[in-house]
Amino acid sequence: MIEVESLSKNYGTFAAVRGLSFTVRPGEVLGLVGPNGAGKTTTLRCLAGIIPASSGTAHIAGHDVAADPVAAKRALAFFPDEPRLFDYLTVRQHLNFVARIYGVANHEQLAQPLLEELEIADKADELPGALSRGMKQKLAIACGLLHAPRVMFFDEPLTGLDPLGIRRMKDSILKRARDGAAIVLSSHLLHLLEEVCSHVLILKKGEKIADGTLAEVAARFSNGEAGVSLEEIFIRATGGSES
Ligand SMILES: Nc1ncnc2c1ncn2[C@@H]1O[C@H](COP(=O)(O)OP(=O)(O)OP(=O)(O)O)[C@@H](O)[C@H]1O
Ligand SMILES: [Mg+2]
Repeated sequence: MIEVESLSKNYGTFAAVRGLSFTVRPGEVLGLVGPNGAGKTTTLRCLAGIIPASSGTAHIAGHDVAADPVAAKRALAFFPDEPRLFDYLTVRQHLNFVARIYGVANHEQLAQPLLEELEIADKADELPGALSRGMKQKLAIACGLLHAPRVMFFDEPLTGLDPLGIRRMKDSILKRARDGAAIVLSSHLLHLLEEVCSHVLILKKGEKIADGTLAEVAARFSNGEAGVSLEEIFIRATGGSES
């Protein structure tokens, strides 16, 4: 479970995230949406313990990210929008390396199904330089999933994947949620978020302007109309003078 309380992040004098609070329970997928620069990546990086928050707290599976970062990081995986890989490790060596860092005992049995799920098993002995952009992203995701994290943060995980890859990634995310993971997913692909997310949180200029189930957020911005899309909600919520 993810518990965020009054999280703020300043870069110098610039307030990128302001007083953000929300909770994601096991089995829930929260869609984090907002315009470019709204603070989505900043929020995810704070929650994953990559950068320190300026104030507020975040608990990951019960562990305070600031006070107990190692325990929090053991429970989570962060998937950045730009995968960072090791130039001189093959696909399989990446998984072996990550398994050692996280102390994953039976990684030989876990790695192969993951490579197959993400459809890069035939590239197991290749270096990143020989992978396409989408394949690199899939490798980074395989590495993150290897230690079976209970909390997952995805920053634009669908960008760069082909249509089948997007569908499989959606299935992978939903499978982890069904297995009890708490997931936050940042994306601009709102029609895809609608299919994956149980909840959404709309950020604008670092502040939460709405959150709840898709139906709750839709009700708030629908003006009584039925079947309003998340895209339309997004535009109404972030485009005009509201908030
Ligand atoms: N390292 C940094 N130093 C200074 N300002 C930063 C830094 N990183 C981000 N910012 C600023 O913080 C704000 C939020 O950036 P962030 O990357 O979190 O936005 P985002 O919601 O992820 O946007 P996008 O949809 O474009 O990915 C922006 O105004 C950005 O310029
Ligand atoms: Mg971003």
